[in-house]
Amino acid sequence: MTISEPAPKPCSIRWVEETDSTQNEILKHIDEYDNMSVVAARYQTSGRGQRGNSWHSERGLNMTFSMLLRFGDDGLQPLRALDQFGITRAMTLAVCDYLEGEGINCMIKWPNDIYARNRKICGMLIENILEGEYVSRSIVGIGLNVNQKDFPGQLLNPTSMALQTGKDYSLENGLEKLCSSIVSCLRKGYYMPGSEAKALYLDRLYRLGRFEDYARCPGGEVFNARIVGVSDEGKLIVENRKGELEKFAFKEISYII
Ligand code: BTN
Repeated sequence: MTISEPAPKPCSIRWVEETDSTQNEILKHIDEYDNMSVVAARYQTSGRGQRGNSWHSERGLNMTFSMLLRFGDDGLQPLRALDQFGITRAMTLAVCDYLEGEGINCMIKWPNDIYARNRKICGMLIENILEGEYVSRSIVGIGLNVNQKDFPGQLLNPTSMALQTGKDYSLENGLEKLCSSIVSCLRKGYYMPGSEAKALYLDRLYRLGRFEDYARCPGGEVFNARIVGVSDEGKLIVENRKGELEKFAFKEISYII
């Protein structure tokens, strides 16, 4: 007889009709929220994206939520600041696990975008609070395009679950399932150095090993190279046509897609 693992306890989810940003909502009341609490909004008036951009999401059509992670005594295992990229690994793998469960093949575009058929289906904003050499808390914001089918023209190659499958989804049920995937990845210690998440993240890495064009930031110089890995601290490692390796931090490179 096989004894199956108990299903991970779903995290507590609070839905709000409208807020400026679920990231700000958690930050404002951070001491009141337990580890793995989630605030989800039907609409954000000032959704925040990476690189200081805003995050577009039509009212009531997509998942826009933030989860608080607490490390140390009252939460997850202690995590050194040096290893904070582990949070990115765990969260991206959890989103992929959820999407694959819904029949959507996906890849991770370094560091934390999720792509389905060359188009962005999900973005993440991970804001870590450090205390000394450790991460004490992390606010992980996730914007997953679910039922939206039309996007403003200025957005670069967006897609949604509905566009990928032709189905319409319940946001409440979907978020419960996605949160179960996240809890399961956290319980497996995917954020910790030395976990299997490192290999799993590479397996899912968009453009791994293919020569493609990239631009240096700032400056914009275009170069042809292939991604060969991601360093422990989360830098992208690329190899140029001469076989030379170079590491890039997030703001130092952009993909030409
Ligand atoms: C990106 O630019 O790709 C990151 C997008 C992150 C958006 C999510 S939506 C929920 C949470 N609240 C925010 O204001 N931003 C994140």
